[in-house]
Amino acid sequence: MCGIVGVLGRHEAAPLLVEALKRLEYRGYDSAGIATVDDGKLDRRRAVGKLVNLSDLLVHDPLPGKSGIGHTRWATHGAPNVANAHPHRAGPVAVVHNGIIENFRELRAELAAAGLPFETETDTETIALLVQHMLGKGMSPRDAAAAAIARLEGAFALALLFDGEDDLMIVARRGSPLAIGYGDGEVYVGSDAMALAPMTNMITYLEEGDWACLSRRSVEIRDQAGHLVDRPIQTVSIDLTQVEKGGHRHFMAKEIAEQPTVLGDALAHYLRDDTISLPEPGLDFSEFDRIVMVACGTANYACVVAKYWFERLSGLSVEVDIASEFRYREPPIPPRTLALFVSQSGETADTLAALRYCEGKAARIVSVVNVTESSIARESDLVLPIRAGAEIGVASTKAFTCQLTVLFLLALKGAHDRGRLDGEEMDAYLSALRHMPGLMNSALARSGDIGRVAKAVAEARDVLFLGRGAMFPLAMEGALKLKEISYIHAEGYASGELKHGPIALVDKSVPVIVMAPSDHLFDKTVSNMQEVMARGGKVLLITDTKGAKLAGDGCWKTLTLPEVEPMLAPILYALPAQLLAYHAAVAKGTDVDQPRNLAKSVTVE
Ligand code: F6R
Repeated sequence: MCGIVGVLGRHEAAPLLVEALKRLEYRGYDSAGIATVDDGKLDRRRAVGKLVNLSDLLVHDPLPGKSGIGHTRWATHGAPNVANAHPHRAGPVAVVHNGIIENFRELRAELAAAGLPFETETDTETIALLVQHMLGKGMSPRDAAAAAIARLEGAFALALLFDGEDDLMIVARRGSPLAIGYGDGEVYVGSDAMALAPMTNMITYLEEGDWACLSRRSVEIRDQAGHLVDRPIQTVSIDLTQVEKGGHRHFMAKEIAEQPTVLGDALAHYLRDDTISLPEPGLDFSEFDRIVMVACGTANYACVVAKYWFERLSGLSVEVDIASEFRYREPPIPPRTLALFVSQSGETADTLAALRYCEGKAARIVSVVNVTESSIARESDLVLPIRAGAEIGVASTKAFTCQLTVLFLLALKGAHDRGRLDGEEMDAYLSALRHMPGLMNSALARSGDIGRVAKAVAEARDVLFLGRGAMFPLAMEGALKLKEISYIHAEGYASGELKHGPIALVDKSVPVIVMAPSDHLFDKTVSNMQEVMARGGKVLLITDTKGAKLAGDGCWKTLTLPEVEPMLAPILYALPAQLLAYHAAVAKGTDVDQPRNLAKSVTVE
């Protein structure tokens, strides 16, 4: 995690760095800091907590200079205090770093033995000290940086600034993304292109293992072997309105509300003349016997929903795993396996490692991502963008429903390729999908009612979510949303699993949220609800009008949604789950967009 920026400019660097860091704060907000070189003098300012604290500090204690680096931190090694905040400095060197240096203990011991003093608990300080050590041997900044970078193990993106060098920055990328931006006599660096959007849209993405020496007039990129390489300059289009709240109180509220539009856009992208059109190189599901789907968090729940779809529609057997387990389990990947990776950011370290594992086993690699310039996208054989637009709120909302939409289209294609879906059935599913934006609008119109229920839910200490079939993973997603932004303990269970243990938790203080469209499993879910109510539990039933009638009396509250093709219910029912979490968090006064301890892009394992 963490976000890094840099500028060699013609104007004061500090305001530019702070502006760029604002766009990276989603990557972590434990502390922030900048360093500049002004007339050859290297200096820094750092503050604990959100970026606004650094901005305040800079008002009282400005930092002049037209060359600078900046950082927003999600703490890995060492508590979030000023000493551990980046930039880290060792003598004439300052560094900002995103990632983890895995061999830092070994390097630390070596540097300590050479008499270099450590001031922090971080792995990052080791980089600065290592460069300082190399400089002490008489090396130039460039050679010292190259020698130090070669010693580092782990995943990192970093930027180095040197005392006495107003026109030099050295950057490197291994495992964590890094973009170089070009301006008029200026050069910029950022963890992503969005950070640099106010300054430039001319971007070069460093490749794995690249490092570069930057000055205002030249960018010299070398690969891991030290050879000079040409990396293309791309013109990226970033809609800056996406990084504003557009009249909403929170990004999360805006992103929930955007779902009918972005989902409609995703559908328009993939549906041509009533057929599903995927980017090249094409995908033919008759070539596969098995699908392995790997992701983390919300993206993983999207995969679990899709497992129900793929198995039912295409008959393919599907294994879903969370990336942090998959990558170390050494799972066998037989021939004719399709490996599918789902990630909003496209930078999640565990998902990327799982992808590389499958690549090593010669599986076909397909990714479903939001950020198409991301590492996961770039290392895939086929990339399926979800087209959700920038998602800034830390809790994933519109990315989830867009992931589901793309995965459903894939499941339909799988069924079609394997001869299990005739034209009429395909048309019926596609027509149901086309109705989804309208149904979502109706669900959004229930926001006020959901807000009232959420106020009561916000009083609870524990909440259970129940679902059956493809609504089971949605129950887990609903619980994840609630816990991550409102800090209420919540768990999602398969309805039928309740009596095997969790029912012991049920009493009148534990809301049990049942998400159940009136499908072929509805009666069974009603029986499970009865079991809860018989024990004094208070059930919030989210269903359709037919389900509300069939369920009878006894629920604490019932929220009704429009009827939907049962297979697609997880997409529609995601909205009340998101709204419930959102309103509960607002009622509790938590930091909705930047909940404690979390970061949007998890680039460390
Ligand atoms: C929860 C949430 C996380 C992410 C997870 C994977 O609201 O956003 O659980 O889904 O960290 O991130 P990506 O999709 O970027 O790989």
